[in-house]
Amino acid sequence: MSLNKKTIEDVDITGKKVFVRCDFNVPLDKDLNITDDTRIIKALPTIKYLLKNNAKVILASHLGRPKGEKKEEFSLKPVAKRLSELLDMPVQMADDVIGDKVSNMANKLDDGQVMLLENVRFYKEETDNDPEFAKKLANLADLYVNDAFGTAHRAHASTEGITHYLPAVCGYLIQNEIEKIDGVISNPQRPFTAIIGGKKVSSKIAVLINLLDKVDNLIIGGGMAFTFFKSMGYEIGESICEEDKLDIAKEILDKAKEKNVNLLLPIDNVVAVSFDENTEYKIVDSDKIPKDMMGMDIGPKTVENFKNVIRESKTVIWNGPMGVFEFSNFAKGTNAIAEILAENDVVSIIGGGDSVAAVSQLGLADKMTHVSTGGGASLELMEGKELPGIVALEDK
Ligand code: 3PG
Repeated sequence: MSLNKKTIEDVDITGKKVFVRCDFNVPLDKDLNITDDTRIIKALPTIKYLLKNNAKVILASHLGRPKGEKKEEFSLKPVAKRLSELLDMPVQMADDVIGDKVSNMANKLDDGQVMLLENVRFYKEETDNDPEFAKKLANLADLYVNDAFGTAHRAHASTEGITHYLPAVCGYLIQNEIEKIDGVISNPQRPFTAIIGGKKVSSKIAVLINLLDKVDNLIIGGGMAFTFFKSMGYEIGESICEEDKLDIAKEILDKAKEKNVNLLLPIDNVVAVSFDENTEYKIVDSDKIPKDMMGMDIGPKTVENFKNVIRESKTVIWNGPMGVFEFSNFAKGTNAIAEILAENDVVSIIGGGDSVAAVSQLGLADKMTHVSTGGGASLELMEGKELPGIVALEDK
């Protein structure tokens, strides 16, 4: 999908009430402190542009999945606090999403002032994409800006429904994500390599199939590799496997051959006796996994093999970890991928919650060409899907 959509720079915003849908779905600890404010920081360029150009800014977001119930642990209050620190100005916090009190607050905003609505998912009409609810949101403003890339794959009232009632354009974050992810996939510098990992083949089938038409090298790691091994007739012991996906795994292997894609699977693995942080483990070749052990990470020979391919690549996209990286004994493969991408002069696009978390934990996010703010949204974009929150915006 290419971005032929109007942006905030294509419309007159001075003095207008602008409804901005952000993705402030940030992680909170048990005391409701924000533990990673990346998504708030990435929303700042759009918000600052609107404020500088004297718009009255009404911000909206979801946080978590409160399923239509108003619960304090899903309140956006911590986000209002962090935003006012980052913007160095007050961010007025509404205690609801719609209603007279909220409308009055919006109507009282001066040019260059900003308010934040409560969690839009406090109403189940949000995820139902209820037209009446979308209309009520639209009534708060004169213009709609979608900058919630992480939620652009959801057709919800504040991402899609609202666009039927207001002029609708995108913000800088969405513009940047589409240009980086889609721009690279449709026009990569070659050799072009995709690294796909994670537990399940089922969640990555569409992306694997779409990428087979685009990449020169397809690296498969993580838990899903064992479904591929089983489809090749290997013993995989107690490793994770989706029995109902053996045929599709085989098909992907055959298609890669047909399309001349260099498909790489791990040649050795770190295997353990149980799924545990401190369990006993050893390294074995992929065709020698013991019956009573399970694969937890890619092995050192595989790391070298993958590294060599990455070193020769000009463009790499990465989605999904190479092993159980939340356990330090089994994080070496995932960390090695992050490190080699950071060290090399390669266009690197990182999408998907776990690979982004791995890159961030290692402090390497700045060394990547692009780290996406979207988990599901970036995966759907890599699958070649259209995102409803973006399709709904006005064409240029
Ligand atoms: C995300 O964290 O991926 C987005 O905020 C979307 O959240 P959702 O999966 O609850 O719609």
